[in-house]
Parts: sequence; C-alpha cells; structure tokens
Amino acid sequence: MNPTAARLFHRLKHLAPLAICTALFFSGAHFQKFSLLAADSKPTHYFDVNPYLQLGKSDNGSSVNVLWISKDPNKNGLLCSYKPTLSKDWKQCKQIETRSINGHPELTVFASTLTELPPGKSIDYSISKDNKVLFQSSFQSAPSAGSPLHFLVFGDCGKGSDGQAVLASRIKESNASLAVLPGDIVYPIGTMHFYKRHFFPYFNAEGNEEKGSPLMRSKIFVGCAGNHDVAEGGYLDARDLSTTPDSMSYFVLWDQPLNGPIAQAGNNTPNVVGTKGQIDDFLRAAGARYPRMANFSFNYGDAHFLVLDANRYMDWDDPGLRRWVEDNLKQAKTPWKFVVFHQPGFNSDMAHREEQRMRKLAEIFERTGVDICFSGHSHSYQRSMPLHFSPSTVSPNDHDARLGFVMGRFKLDKTFDGTLKTKPDGVIYIISGSGGAPLTPGHMEEDQSLWLPFTKKFACREYSFTSCKINGRKLSIEQIADDGSVLDRFVVSKD
Ligand SMILES: [Fe+2]
Repeated sequence: MNPTAARLFHRLKHLAPLAICTALFFSGAHFQKFSLLAADSKPTHYFDVNPYLQLGKSDNGSSVNVLWISKDPNKNGLLCSYKPTLSKDWKQCKQIETRSINGHPELTVFASTLTELPPGKSIDYSISKDNKVLFQSSFQSAPSAGSPLHFLVFGDCGKGSDGQAVLASRIKESNASLAVLPGDIVYPIGTMHFYKRHFFPYFNAEGNEEKGSPLMRSKIFVGCAGNHDVAEGGYLDARDLSTTPDSMSYFVLWDQPLNGPIAQAGNNTPNVVGTKGQIDDFLRAAGARYPRMANFSFNYGDAHFLVLDANRYMDWDDPGLRRWVEDNLKQAKTPWKFVVFHQPGFNSDMAHREEQRMRKLAEIFERTGVDICFSGHSHSYQRSMPLHFSPSTVSPNDHDARLGFVMGRFKLDKTFDGTLKTKPDGVIYIISGSGGAPLTPGHMEEDQSLWLPFTKKFACREYSFTSCKINGRKLSIEQIADDGSVLDRFVVSKD
C-alpha cells in the first residue's frame, strides 16, 4: 500500500464507528425499537398490561381471545401463536386487532383470537415480536359436554386492598379454568387509570410481585358490569366522560360474546355524557361492544351462563327484554344453568337491601330451570334457601318503588341442607362479593335476627371466593376464605 492509500485507510478506520452509528440513527424507529427489545431481557418493558385471556366472541368456548396492552402501537412483526401442549405444530392467529383506549392515546389494546380449540386440552400460546418471544403461557380449553368443569366466582374485587392481594394468591392455588366476576370489577369507577392501579396488578401480575398473582394468563376471566363499572360509583359517575375521559373501560378491556339483545344506546343502557370528542373517543374504543356486551350468554362444558345488566337504569319489566331472557334460558340445553348479575334481588345485608329489582325475573328463572344466580354488590358471602318468589300485584308506594322494593310471596325450601338433601326446590341465590372491597360489618354474620327469612348462610369476616365443581349431575360448591378455610360447603344434585 502506498503512503497516500495508507493515510486514507487510517482515516476511514477511525471514521467507521461514526459512520455505523449515523446509519443506525437514520435507519428509523423500527430498528431502534427492535434494538431495545432485543437488549431487554424483561418482556414486561413491551407490555404495559401483560397478556390476559377472554371469552372473545365465541359463545361455546371453542375459541379464546388473548389481549394485551402496550405503549408501542406498531403491529409490524407481532405474532400470536398457539398449540395444544406436547404438540409440535404452532398455529398462527389470523389477525391482531388494535384499539386505542379512550383518554389514553398513548396506550393500545391488542386482541387476537385462538380458534378451533380442541376441548379440555392444555393450550400453549405465545406473543412474539420480530421473531423474539416476549410472552408464553398456557391455559385449559373449555371442557366437552359431560366432562367435569371447575369455575370460580368473586365480585367487588378491584379495590387495590391487601385483602384482595391475599385472596388472589389463594385463587392462584385453584386449578379452575374459568373465573366469573359478578360486577364492581374496579373501584371507585371503571377507568383505565383504576384498572391499572386496582385490578391488573392484583389479578394479572408478573408473578414475582408482592401484591399480585398471575391469574389472567391461565384462567379465562368473565366480567359482568356493576354500578362502579358503568354507572354510579359513590361520589363519581362512571358514565361521565367529562370528569374521567378514560371511563367505561369495561367496554374496551373486555372481549365477550356480543349476543345480547341491545345493540344501540337508548333505554336500558349506560348512556355516556361528555364533549363530542370524548364521546367519539369512547365509541371508537368500545366499537360493537358498547352497549351490547352489558348482556350476553355462553355455554362452557356442561354449564350455560347468562350474564345480565342489573344496574338502576335497566327496566326488567320491559316485555322484549323479559322474552329474550326466557327464550335464552329455555333454549339452553346444558344440564346446568347459571345467571350472573351484580345487584342481588335477595340480600340480607343492610347495605343495598332495598334494591330488589332483579326479583322481577325470579319467576322466569324458576320456569326455565335455573340452578343458581350469582351476584355481588353486598361485600359479603350469602346463600339463600332454594326459593320461589311471586311478585305481588300490589305495587309498593312510590317512595319504596323508587328505592327498588319489590313486594311478593315466598316459598322457601327449608329442607334442603346440601349434604343429605341435595335436590333443591327452587333457585338458590348466592352473593359472592367479598373479593377485595371493605367487607360488610362483621356483626351481620353472627346476628341471625338481622337476616331476612330466605337467608341460609352469611359470612363477611374474611375475603373469600366461590369454588364450583360440576361433575355430571352433581354440583359441589365451597366458599373459600383468604386463609384457605371453608366458610360454606354444599352439594346440589339432579338425581
Ligand atoms: Fe355494587
């Protein structure tokens, strides 16, 4: 090499790193994101909310949706894959849908559907970006007809309390594949802000955090909208987007069957208020889920679940709505039928005792063979005797009607004990609202003189959840406290 060429080579050698850095800088955001992810061994830096499982649009468990939230709105390079455990063949989800969260333009929800799932199998799934696996987990698909089903019920849960955290760790020990939340999912109201503070860190945690448990990656969570989710929540109103533009997250963060009777906002829907921009923002985020997803149904193994909106704005005297409920329950051919709604019609708690409007559907539940109704609202566990209720033709006075009183005649099955006599005459009403919000005062548990005559069990000294196991024509229920003790135990049989 001549001296001139040698000098040039020497200069270029020193300039090379600068040239490479310049090329990297101008190569665009995509490369920078890839570099960050590749260098980052913790996938949670990509996920603002970790992947969680939902029913999706399927009303028979044959498909499942996985959702996650990220600050990176880019879909390029993203892949959702799944396969039965032990199988080698990964299938790719056909598409990944995205939606921005109202009031949080920095956050994007991603949703992808795992279709044609074989029943009763362990299913592995993963989320990858740019060929790097960011997340992997597994869940149990819906059982086939005739196979055992284990599901949990707990409501009034997203408070951000220590009790909620302990309960979540207890729930983690359960091998149930499904968790049904009968409303008041998040306190004080269902905004994205409070989902991120009071709900996801407890039920969809990474697993190594002190306060939460990784439940939602392996159990399908089903939500029912309570008053704190989509209506009045104490001093706030969840429908008021002008105060909290990220309200009504129930309709954005949950993906559930859209087979309810109400497709348009109007009577019997939680109607939002706010500026045109705030309302448009919410409607765009919610899509077809609002308002239809307030009522829906699905089959899961041997069980049919009907989820109803019991909020104050609902008129369950409406003939069209009543017909829909009756037809839905009549057409269900599963051995077991459950109805889920937030505000209970039969409640001995001094709190909310007067809100009895769901009693108006009791006769339909009895006619169509409903086994159990699950509610929350009262921060306690309550079990009714099996009962029949006939609303009175005499209306309460205006004041009592406004409060929600529904007068009527009871027929109680006092012989059902859930151990020796397990065939109930009537519908059993369970309140499972001890999921994390401050509990009902403890004296209600001991002082039976305060209970209304239909109440068989009342527990409110511990946070607790309901464990339900179906095995053929036998249903075994336990109310399990946060310390693992069993607060109530009974069996319902059909033979
Ligand atoms: Fe409530």
